[in-house]
Amino acid sequence: MSAAVTNVPHHGAADPAALPIIPWPSAVEPLDGPGPSLADVRVEAPDAGLAALAVEQLAGAGVRVHDGAPVGVTLRLDPAAGPVGSDSPERYTLRVSADGVVATAPERVGLLHAVRTLRQLVPVGRASAGEAEAPAVVPAVVVHDAPRYSWRGLSVDVVRHFFGPEDLRTVVDLVGALKLRVLHLHLTDDQGWRIQIPSRPALTERSSATQVGGGGGGYLTVEEFRDLQDYAAERFVTIVPEIDQPGHVNAATHAYGELMPDGEPTAVYEGIEVGFSRLWFDNPATEPFLRDVLGDVARMTRGQYVHVGGDEVLTMEPAEYARFVELACRVVREAGKTPVLWQEGARGPVEPGTVLQYWEPKGEPDPFIAAARAGARFVMSPGNRAYLDMKYTPEHALGLEWAGFVELRDSYDWEPEQVIPGLPAESVEGVSGAVWTETLATRDDLFSMLLPRLGAVAEVAWSDARRKDWESFRARVAAQAPTWRAAGWEFHPTPQVDWP
Ligand code: ACM
Repeated sequence: MSAAVTNVPHHGAADPAALPIIPWPSAVEPLDGPGPSLADVRVEAPDAGLAALAVEQLAGAGVRVHDGAPVGVTLRLDPAAGPVGSDSPERYTLRVSADGVVATAPERVGLLHAVRTLRQLVPVGRASAGEAEAPAVVPAVVVHDAPRYSWRGLSVDVVRHFFGPEDLRTVVDLVGALKLRVLHLHLTDDQGWRIQIPSRPALTERSSATQVGGGGGGYLTVEEFRDLQDYAAERFVTIVPEIDQPGHVNAATHAYGELMPDGEPTAVYEGIEVGFSRLWFDNPATEPFLRDVLGDVARMTRGQYVHVGGDEVLTMEPAEYARFVELACRVVREAGKTPVLWQEGARGPVEPGTVLQYWEPKGEPDPFIAAARAGARFVMSPGNRAYLDMKYTPEHALGLEWAGFVELRDSYDWEPEQVIPGLPAESVEGVSGAVWTETLATRDDLFSMLLPRLGAVAEVAWSDARRKDWESFRARVAAQAPTWRAAGWEFHPTPQVDWP
């Protein structure tokens, strides 16, 4: 750990640098003496919902929760909690001492963050067959914590291979464990349409049963999408749905031939090429289609954001592209939501508050700097750092490599405010990992690409850049392995970590 990170341990106290917390907190102060044993605890919380979430977290670490247990885990709303000077609504303080555990935060989300941190401190895998359980002793420590960015996310492609509600709830659990707040779902593309649209039923009736390589597909019904959002929202994770346009639309043009100039539906597509499909602005069927789809999606969305894609439109003149961006953003705004676009959206008219997701680290920075001046907010997902579908190494069986090889350290050692040279730092809204699923067919495939790299991206998004430290991080990653194994979360055992 660098000098800025290390708090000199008191005599007999835990070495804070050895605490297995990811993302690394703002301040960690060891207390003198031993910490409590958390084998059995009782939980006190401001409401039943938070109590249930705390039980869920603690049970995941093998802690038994019952009234009358000797040690208390108390969650309390308190505006004074968190690091000195932080005004983040997510800030919290976690105090773990021989007397018990007290989590304080001004808002409920901070209390859950505190419990997530506590969960990481509980040693996992204590019981082995036929032996007495090892003690669940947790170090005595005070953590004051708050995030660097508010947008800390993961973008998941559920088109190239479909991942259904059960897998996505597990992804929400992973996202939450790393204190991320946004799960962005890429729901439409050339290979399939993955969300039921009441005003346009043919989208899922005709275009949901395909995916890369064939053999399945699927889609989320209105009810499944609602329930997934509810599950995520309880855990303070916001789902951001993406309807990609005006390219990546073969599933739409297959379902509705009227979207094509000749009125003929396009053929299904289960390959992995990009850039060939498109909408046509002057086609009279186009605007009603976008209004129907984006209107329904906005109504179905709990959160503030709707992503309207805009990436990789390789067969359209700039003026027509700009009209699409303007229309899609206007429709989303009229529906009361805030539009998100891939970085190409900077080529269209950008209104204040529009979120641009930066993914392809090449080209001139000027259009992005101009967009920032116009009030755009940036979410950084640079492919050579945050695209977690890139192979770890050339030999890696899964993944693509067009943005390079992304080993764990590549996804850790980068600075969001230097991704676009000259971009004002205050335009950076946050960071998102992204995973595209051309080569990922199962939950294990997906998780082995996410873990451990999503932990790195989460730390880039949460932790003060001066507190990041690779050696500390790789030790803390190793300490997560028992938790991931216990949860059934596949991870890639990169040789960059000394796994237990
Ligand atoms: C993208 O990777 N086409 C956003």
